[in-house]
Amino acid sequence: MRETAVHEATRRRYLMCPPTYFDVVYAINPWMRPNDEEGRVDTERAVAQWTELKDTYERLGHEIHVVDPVPGLPDMVFAANGGVVLDGRVFGSRFRYVERLPEAAHYLSWFKTHGSRLGIADIYVPLAVAEGEGDILIVGDRILAATGFRTEPEAHRELADYFGREVLSLELVDPRFYHLDTALAVLDDETVAYYPPAFTPESRELLRMTYPDAIIAHEADVMVLGLNAVSDGKHVVLPVEAKGFAEQLSRRGFEPVPVDLSELRKAGGGPKCCTLELRVESA
Ligand code: ARG
Repeated sequence: MRETAVHEATRRRYLMCPPTYFDVVYAINPWMRPNDEEGRVDTERAVAQWTELKDTYERLGHEIHVVDPVPGLPDMVFAANGGVVLDGRVFGSRFRYVERLPEAAHYLSWFKTHGSRLGIADIYVPLAVAEGEGDILIVGDRILAATGFRTEPEAHRELADYFGREVLSLELVDPRFYHLDTALAVLDDETVAYYPPAFTPESRELLRMTYPDAIIAHEADVMVLGLNAVSDGKHVVLPVEAKGFAEQLSRRGFEPVPVDLSELRKAGGGPKCCTLELRVESA
């Protein structure tokens, strides 16, 4: 048994977008079932759930910034895909599917308008497909970047060049876990949780060697998008249905904070998808 560590929370800044125009009208991942009764979205309920997520962050002491939703962009609520902000610099997005393409410009314009006030000094727009923090996660000094379904390997090179940091490239293999943030959660600067079957054998080995102390998630938890979680180093905001993962977190000294985002899950999203971290101070 490893010892339970004492974890410390740090105050975060998050960018979010209300699900005012949220809907499931196309299918770009297997969670989306626009023609199924069960897949039908209750937008009002989605707004209430999202508001509860935002309130939860505020209760935890975090600072929330909000980007205006745009009619006709039902997935814009998934702010994580709007870019990656690190050291006060923005690596913008280029979406894979035409349905989400226009979102990139809206997030960019938010960064241009509000960035300087927040201490954002530079913005870069990648040439390759890159879906922001959906596929690109920061763990301490390291950047984890996935490919396989959305973000292209060329974007990993652009990332490394732009931020001047090491990028660990991972490959996803299961379409249900189409973004890295559905298969791996960052808990603090050196701890992650992940679901090995979502990755190629090579990527699994890489993760095993890099994070020998990682929490290995169970199938029942990833099937409710349990790894789509947001940690401040201590509190881990996660889908309420992910009971097993919550227990694993408690055993390791983290504090699980469950939220109900069942409506957003109908589009393949959870807490992390709705949250883009604004890392505006350089490390
Ligand atoms: N329907 C959206 C898509 O398939 C969901 C995105 C969820 N975002 C995330 N960071 N995993 O693009």
